[in-house]
Amino acid sequence: MSMDFPVVIFGVGNMGAAIARCLRRAHPNAVIWGVDADQAKIAALEAEGVLVAAKSDWRLEDGIVVLSVKPQILDAVAKGLQERLGKGSTVLSILAGVPLARLRAAFGAQQVVRTMPNLALTVGAGATAIATDGLSEQILAKIRGLLAPTGEVVEVTESQMDAVTGLSGSGPAYVLKFLMSLEEGGVLAGLPRPVAHRLAVATVAGTVQLAQETGAEWDALRGQVTSPGGTTIHGLRALEEGGFTASVMGAVWAATERSKELGRS
Ligand SMILES: NC(=O)c1ccc[n+]([C@@H]2O[C@H](COP(=O)([O-])OP(=O)(O)OC[C@H]3O[C@@H](n4cnc5c(N)ncnc54)[C@H](OP(=O)(O)O)[C@@H]3O)[C@@H](O)[C@H]2O)c1
Repeated sequence: MSMDFPVVIFGVGNMGAAIARCLRRAHPNAVIWGVDADQAKIAALEAEGVLVAAKSDWRLEDGIVVLSVKPQILDAVAKGLQERLGKGSTVLSILAGVPLARLRAAFGAQQVVRTMPNLALTVGAGATAIATDGLSEQILAKIRGLLAPTGEVVEVTESQMDAVTGLSGSGPAYVLKFLMSLEEGGVLAGLPRPVAHRLAVATVAGTVQLAQETGAEWDALRGQVTSPGGTTIHGLRALEEGGFTASVMGAVWAATERSKELGRS
């Protein structure tokens, strides 16, 4: 799919730069401009061939601005940014916890889209949710196309965004914790740490690939390695004695509640 509209990445920190790189890989000839308070970041991405610095008098009549600054500076940048945007342009926000109502108040004349990506977008394997509230099918199609090179994209209502934050937004931290725990377990059982590390990564990556490629029910796959009285069922019992399922569910729940709390403040 071609990207036949210009894109401005406003804030090229961790996430903004990662989005720009995904877009450039997928669309070698697309027009991607970058804006950042730190010119060194723009220069580095220019040198990489990812984007070009927006001119000081840049305007966007019909394209997408990816708003990727920290949420705390939204109010400070919104007015100046809005003055550069034509009515045909769209503001795509990745600002964690900033509601559509606030975005709409800040960018009255433009279409605004609230999304929630995660850190794995850095390698083009992200999980991003788009809040579809109030979006026309035309804008939605444009946003789906824009985000496709960043990884998995799901559509939700804004009311589901806190749960998205609790699951996929915070999720990379839970998965990393699980990887670290597998490694620790391997060391506990006598493996050298580098060996435990490689086995932990390959086990998680391989199991995800297996589940995706076979499309089998997760519990059926689990059953294939859980023979009666065998090693795995003993391991699973230990996991549940430690409250594994409740812990992971509780993590998603707690992060969701915290996201709601932050949204109210
Ligand atoms: N990191 C995640 O996993 C994650 C996940 C989901 C959503 N998000 C959201 O993504 C957004 C960006 O996060 P991040 O981790 O990429 O932050 P970040 O690395 O701090 O990036 C923000 C960038 O904006 C620049 N900036 C500051 N003031 C500016 C201004 N007035 N005009 C233009 N650019 C300005 C910053 O420059 P300086 O460094 O010089 O200030 C920085 O390069 C946040 O809103 C966050 O909620 C992040």
